[in-house]
Amino acid sequence: MKFDTPAGTNPIDQEMVIGKPHPRIEGRLKTTGTAVYSYENHAVAPNAAYGYVVGAGISKGRVVTIDISEAKASTGVLAIVTADNAGPTKASGFYAAKPLGGPEIDHYHQAIALVVAETFEQARAAASLIRVKYERANGAFVLAAARAEAKPHKQQPDVRIGDFENAFAAAAVKVDQTYTTPDQSHMMMEPHATIARWDGDMLTIWSAQQILSYARRDLSAKIGVPADKIRIVATYVGGGFGGKGSAGSDAVLAALGARAAGRPVKVALPRPLMPNNTSHRPATIQRIRLGAGSDGRLVAIGHESLSGNLSGGRPEIAAAQSQLLYAGANRLNLTRLATLDLPEGSAMRAPGEAPGMMALEIAMDELAEKLAMDPVELRILNDTQVVPSYSGRESSTDPQSATGSHGPQKTAVRPFSTRQLVQCLRLGAEKFGWKERDSRPGARRDGNWLIGMGVASAIRGAPILPAGARVTLDGKGMVTVETNMTDMGTGSYTIIGQTAAEMMGLPLDRIVVKLGDSRFPDAFGGGGQAGAATATAGVYAACVKLREAVATRLGFNSVDAEFVGGEVRFGNRRVALARAADAGSLTAEDKIEYGDLSKQYEQQTFGAHFCEVGVDAWTGEIRLRRMLAVCAAGRILNPLTARSQVIGGMTMGAGAALMEELVVDKTFGLFVNHDMASYEVPVHADIPDQEVIFLNELDPTMSPLKAKGVGELGISGVAPAIANAIYNATGIRIRDYPITLDKCLDKLQPMA
Ligand code: MOS
Repeated sequence: MKFDTPAGTNPIDQEMVIGKPHPRIEGRLKTTGTAVYSYENHAVAPNAAYGYVVGAGISKGRVVTIDISEAKASTGVLAIVTADNAGPTKASGFYAAKPLGGPEIDHYHQAIALVVAETFEQARAAASLIRVKYERANGAFVLAAARAEAKPHKQQPDVRIGDFENAFAAAAVKVDQTYTTPDQSHMMMEPHATIARWDGDMLTIWSAQQILSYARRDLSAKIGVPADKIRIVATYVGGGFGGKGSAGSDAVLAALGARAAGRPVKVALPRPLMPNNTSHRPATIQRIRLGAGSDGRLVAIGHESLSGNLSGGRPEIAAAQSQLLYAGANRLNLTRLATLDLPEGSAMRAPGEAPGMMALEIAMDELAEKLAMDPVELRILNDTQVVPSYSGRESSTDPQSATGSHGPQKTAVRPFSTRQLVQCLRLGAEKFGWKERDSRPGARRDGNWLIGMGVASAIRGAPILPAGARVTLDGKGMVTVETNMTDMGTGSYTIIGQTAAEMMGLPLDRIVVKLGDSRFPDAFGGGGQAGAATATAGVYAACVKLREAVATRLGFNSVDAEFVGGEVRFGNRRVALARAADAGSLTAEDKIEYGDLSKQYEQQTFGAHFCEVGVDAWTGEIRLRRMLAVCAAGRILNPLTARSQVIGGMTMGAGAALMEELVVDKTFGLFVNHDMASYEVPVHADIPDQEVIFLNELDPTMSPLKAKGVGELGISGVAPAIANAIYNATGIRIRDYPITLDKCLDKLQPMA
């Protein structure tokens, strides 16, 4: 199916099943511990051996010698994989580091060996007997110090529109501040884990992966096995946030270990290895310059972002959304990348927007204060319904990268497909009781608690990619859907089932959803908040084909036949859907592909985040009291799973605001707090009442479902709303995340 004109009315619009708050169809399996995750799939490899990954003890330099003789003689050891015996492995895809280091070392805890043994304990014990001699080289580990070497990157060209410098210099009211965001770890619940099994020259991995096509492509390139000889299965994935966007060391080493041992091998990364061995969200230093007239209208918007990465790695695109969010004639948008020898930076939930908004949306709060304007009203005043000073380049179609990449030359007007930022802000202000906010910091108090409210806008791109699916109707009237879409806890199973149910006129319990197998038609996967819109559109296309096949078998005119209540209806004729499969199951497969609607329209999701905090006037302890998100993100396919996505994003945003930080060892170049005891994320007790409101919205330029994703919108803007609330409570402006109490304490004492 080709989708190249905006969607008209179609069966999805009935909303018999779609748009309803169905609990996750696989929820019972997960809550009873019976959903089989990759590492636990004992049935596919009952004789699997265990692999234990050894990480490099230096961040840069070389392995001079690696002595595995003692380890090899250790009880139960079957094989040891190192760069000496594994044959060449290569970096591939969006990871710049090799999956198996040696002799050159790219980063701390880069894998240098896999020990395979009969038991996990034997593998771990033997791993401690490997003797490595390193030659340590000096590296660059401090972002601020690497600034002078930073360069532009082709992924995000510089944007200069109008005359930013002069407009900013002449502006009546200005903000010019620098904001910093730290390195962050994905810290998903399920570690990176893989079982690998060879059947002759055919490799199958059961592996925690978000995007099977990327994982297969990259695994193929990394170990030199043709992609058509690799099958990847990821039935359930316990979180990813971008950290499972491609085949990492667990998958690569499980495959190599299984080949070396002549047995299936399972590898799970121990938690303390994850933050340095895998990828993370890179730290940023961002300068924001906002210039406005005394009426509050922005005349100059400058956003410069610096991040670092390994040589060959990509920048954090933290400035891009500032090209889209507010009006203003004169604009400067620069992204710079420095080379650092820290572990590899890559995509993490709302790559770009999440850290970018952490800077921009504090700056807007600072501007509102200087203007003596309400921060909600300032944002509304600067709304725009077209891309400001559109530059003639369409959005990036890479969902792992961030919001659009717009170049310098001006051309035609480019409208947003939908944009309800103002509505989100207005409704949020009303529902949150924004009018109770006192614009004077420190003015509201509840006992020892200083009370403040904060707001921030939210924006995140709405990418959609080609996707296929296969659907089969059987004689019992059950429909089975197969795509290689994954579900990392997001609700993919459920919304895909709802899509098929709506299209075929069946209740949800008549649909069987099979996901996460590279043998199924390609539907991209979970990433870039593209998954929901992308995968359901593929299922729609396949169901259109199945409806035609059913109608033909039953002798109906396919265009006019209705599929409803388990029947096919036309005029006075009604036939049970299952009758179409009396002569054998019916299977249909199709793929949806896109024309240039994403070039004609800027497709984004919008929202507004509101937060109330209390800050203890004596101790500086910060407590969230209330949070509200209002989101406009196309048709909400399932308000229950979508809400869970948004409250998850809000929770992660709270972590970004208040606690999450990978601490860099500036001498040795590693993240020091590389476990869950010392890398702090929010727990239940940190999170207050969270409310989520979805605006009614259909975006017919997206797909026949008129839907977008919400998972990354949910985090974008949360942290600055919290930062702004802390300022409103205390008058203390912290521009260096996370906002921990030690940063507030000395400034609080005089107030108290
Ligand atoms: Mo997302 S960071 O693209 O999984």
